[in-house]
Amino acid sequence: MLECIGLKKSYNEKIVVNDLSFSVNKGEVFAFLGSNGAGKTTTIKMILGLIKKDGGKIITDENIHIGYSPETPYFPPFLTGYEVLDYYAQIQKIPKSNRSSEILRLLDTVGLENNKTRVRNYSKGMLQRLALAQSLLGDPELLILDEPTAGLDALGRLEIIQLIGKLKSTGKTIIINSHILNDIERICDRGIIIKNGVQLGEWHKSDNNEKSLEEIFIELVRGIKE
Ligand SMILES: Nc1ncnc2c1ncn2[C@@H]1O[C@H](COP(=O)(O)OP(=O)(O)OP(=O)(O)O)[C@@H](O)[C@H]1O
Ligand SMILES: [Mg+2]
Repeated sequence: MLECIGLKKSYNEKIVVNDLSFSVNKGEVFAFLGSNGAGKTTTIKMILGLIKKDGGKIITDENIHIGYSPETPYFPPFLTGYEVLDYYAQIQKIPKSNRSSEILRLLDTVGLENNKTRVRNYSKGMLQRLALAQSLLGDPELLILDEPTAGLDALGRLEIIQLIGKLKSTGKTIIINSHILNDIERICDRGIIIKNGVQLGEWHKSDNNEKSLEEIFIELVRGIKE
């Protein structure tokens, strides 16, 4: 579904993504993990074409639609959740005939049934849910979720994780970047851990893992020399 080969990106001569390669298979829930400032969001933005890469290759299946939930969602504060989704649906040219039903379905899916509230009055968790709904518009084959459960309370996190599980069961391919490793262990099949733009190791879900993902993460991230 997606292959990244030797990705590179620098800002002001500081290398933030350094020869990074990984691939994500169809139907997988892939964990893209790493310490703060490791280069995860930068890599995601390169995959989405939001920023230019300095080197490397990104190969995707032909004509795939990628849905994206950003790390810090921003929507015009004077719009309601419904209006935000309507705006994005128009950009995506979703036909008017099924726009309204699709938006209501997505608001319900993410637990934002009260669509009269304006974004300026949204809590952090509500913003995250709206960003997730926005990423699902148009039924994308690949979803990239940058910290989808950040800022949610324990129940909200569980609901989002269950929703991601449902999306997985419909065959979607999902990349999740998160620091909440419990969530990752619940939902992801495998993943990679990066630091300073370099891959430190891989993680595979298994029932007989000797170490928790958190232990693996800390060992890998601590072990590298600055
Ligand atoms: N536009 C920019 N200009 C300069 N430096 C940048 C820019 N964007 C990102 N960086 C730097 O690139 C590095 C990687 O940032 P990035 O946001 O990709 O990290 P991250 O892995 O997503 O971290 P976090 O887990 O904290 O979200 C950081 O050192 C950051 O300061
Ligand atoms: Mg980030």
